[in-house]
Formats: sequence, C-alpha cells, structure tokens
Amino acid sequence: MKAHIVLLPGDGIGPEVVAAAQRVLEAVGRLRGHSWTFSTKLIGGVALHKKLPALPDDTLTAALSADAVLLGAVGDPAFDKSPPSSRPESALLKVRRELGVFANLRPARSWPGLEESGPLKREVFAGTDLIVVRELLGGLYYGEPRGTDARSGAVVNTMCYTRPEVERVAHVAFKLAQKRRRQLVSVDKANVLEVSQFWRTVVTDVGRSYPDVALSHQLVDSCAMKLALAPASFDVVLTENMFGDILSDEAGAVCGSLGLLPSASLGPGPGLFEPVHGSAPDIAGQSKANPIGAIGSAAMLLSDGLGLNDEGAMIVQAIERTLATGLRTPDIMSAGCRAATTDQFTDSLIAEMGQ
Ligand code: NAD
Ligand code: IPM
Ligand code: MN
Repeated sequence: MKAHIVLLPGDGIGPEVVAAAQRVLEAVGRLRGHSWTFSTKLIGGVALHKKLPALPDDTLTAALSADAVLLGAVGDPAFDKSPPSSRPESALLKVRRELGVFANLRPARSWPGLEESGPLKREVFAGTDLIVVRELLGGLYYGEPRGTDARSGAVVNTMCYTRPEVERVAHVAFKLAQKRRRQLVSVDKANVLEVSQFWRTVVTDVGRSYPDVALSHQLVDSCAMKLALAPASFDVVLTENMFGDILSDEAGAVCGSLGLLPSASLGPGPGLFEPVHGSAPDIAGQSKANPIGAIGSAAMLLSDGLGLNDEGAMIVQAIERTLATGLRTPDIMSAGCRAATTDQFTDSLIAEMGQ
C-alpha cells in the first residue's frame, strides 16, 4: 500500500516520541513492502515561537489531504499565561474539529511484565484491557457561549450535545464492544446535569440496535473510583469529551505510566493518531520519554486508519517482546530490569520486529 502520513511532532517530548514512531512505521514499510511518504509540519508552541498561528494554514491543509496524521503533543509553559484561544493547545482542538474526528479511542491495558509498574496490586490490575471511547468534538471544549459575559463579567463554558453528536459516537462504541467482550459502560453525571440525562437517553436508544451488547450506565465520580478499584471489570467505556479526558489519564496512571497509552481519533476523513500524554516539559530533551504511547498510536494508525490490521498487530507484538527483554524507560523501571533511553527502546523494538 502507498500512504501519505503527516507528522505533527509539536512540543516538549512530542518530537522525541514521533521520531520513534516514524522509525517503527518505516521498519514496517520495509518489512511488509509498503511505501509511506511523510511530511512534517509545525503545530503548537513551536509554531507560536516562530510568530505563526498555533495551527498554521499549511499544517491544516497538509493534515486534511493526508491518509493519516500522527501527532506528538502540544503545550509549552512559555504560553501558560495566554488565553485558551492563543495557547498551543488551541491548535489541537482546531485540527480535531477540522478533521471531524469525533470518536477518540483510548485503549488501556496490562502489558505482560508491567503488572506491577502501576500503583495497584498485581491481582487487582491483572487482566485489565479496556478502551475509553471519548466524544471528541462536543461538550465543554466547544460549547457556546464561552468566555467572559460582557454585561455581568461572569465567565462561562457550556456543556452542549445534540442527538446526532451522541448517536454517532455511541454507534462507534457499540460496534467496538461487539468485537470485544460486549460490555459497554456509558459514563455521565445524570444525577446533576440535564446534558448527561440526555446523553443517557440517547445512548439507551442507540443500544436497542445492539441487543448483544450489555449496556450499563455509571456516574463519572463512581466510575473514577471503580477504575482504580477494579480496572479489569471494564471493557468499553463511552463518555463525553471532558470526562473522557480525565478518565483516560487515570487509566494511564492505573497502567503504570501515562506514556503507555495510545489513541486514535476517527471521523469521516483522515484519522488523527496521538499518544494520550502531553508534552511532559519536566522530562523533555532528556531521552527519558516512553515511546510506547506514540508507537502504539502508529499501530492504531495502521490498523484503524489504513485498515492494515496485521501490520498494527505486528507493532503491538513487538512492544510485548521488547518489554519481555526487560528494557524499560525510567517511568516504568522496576527491579531487575534494564534502563533504556527512548531511542534504545525503539532500536530494540525495531530489531524485535525484524525477527
Ligand atoms: P503530561 O501528560 O505532559 O505529563 C504528565 C506526567 O506524565 C509528567 O510527569 C510527565 O513526565 C509524565 N509523562 C507524560 N508522558 C510521558 C512519557 N511518554 N514518558 C514518560 N513520562 C511521561 O501532562 P501535563 O504535565 O499536565 O501537561 C504538559 C503540557 O502538555 C500542558 O501544556 C498540557 O496542556 C499539554 N498536554 C497536551 C496533550 C496533547 O498534546 N495531546 C495532552 C495532555 C497535555
Ligand atoms: C488530551 C489533552 C488535550 C485534551 C488538551 C491538550 C487540549 O489533554 O489529548 O488528552 O484535553 O483533549
Ligand atoms: Mn488529556
């Protein structure tokens, strides 16, 4: 297959983990006879530092005409005092909206050998294999009105969902559940919010078309608790934008590191693939970044973005085999394992793939 992949490394550790993921994609191309072309574009703080918009026009044009987009992270403490609309993060919200990627899939699992990297006891965490389906283009992130009300001075954000917005992401989650363990938990705050009661009604309506999937509803606060107490009890977790953002970072912590989690954001056009983590300014430029989230996102790019399921699985198996050799970046280091930089881990993973 031929495919054009647009790389958006962004800020902080973004360039380090995107370079790792690109090398893995190139290796898959060589081994399986695919031909990828890449172009690399500016996004986020690196664009702002060049006096460009956070999402330059040519970055957006390239993303819209790509077969798939792989993003590192955006966010730079230099812009911490800027208003949301002119921060690096605004570029991510805009590119997601322009690409129309409404369904954000964030899998979180127990990797062999990492059962004790996280804060949970082995017997609690073992067997965890869940996926958060996060609605990505609605809710508080995009709702109007927003900002300061000129008359009262009050500051407003709006959580807003329409029926079609909830239906389309619910269909994605139910179809995914059909291919997995057929358990779907829809997460909301229906004891307080009208928008959550509506979410619950629409998800229940959509669920009638999927009688083979067991649907349950859970309040977000108790879901956050259960995710820490019994992560292995979840299969598919469907939720709105902000709740999904928060629960997926919690899932990262439960797994042992936020650096482990990949994601795929899907819509009618090219998909956007990015690790769940941010720019991690505290470790940027030190070769400490765990590349598994970004490499896993490259795997999702191949399987969910380009329909190359075998190639995606090949990367996932290479992650497992590399972990089995005992190599660990600092975030998941444990007794008896060997320390690896971002590049050393990636080199080893590429060698494993060639075996
Ligand atoms: P973060 O995800 O960048 O980091 C949180 C913690 O996890 C840090 O201690 C960091 O060192 C660690 N971590 C994250 N990724 C890691 C990796 N691959 N390997 C090892 N350790 C890793 O969250 P933050 O510090 O709250 O945010 C930093 C900046 O990133 C902010 O500007 C924020 O807005 C932005 N951000 C961007 C994205 C994105 O681009 N998708 C996501 C989250 C946060
Ligand atoms: C994420 C990030 C983004 C989000 C920010 C940086 C806009 O936290 O991808 O999880 O909230 O969606
Ligand atoms: Mn987040």
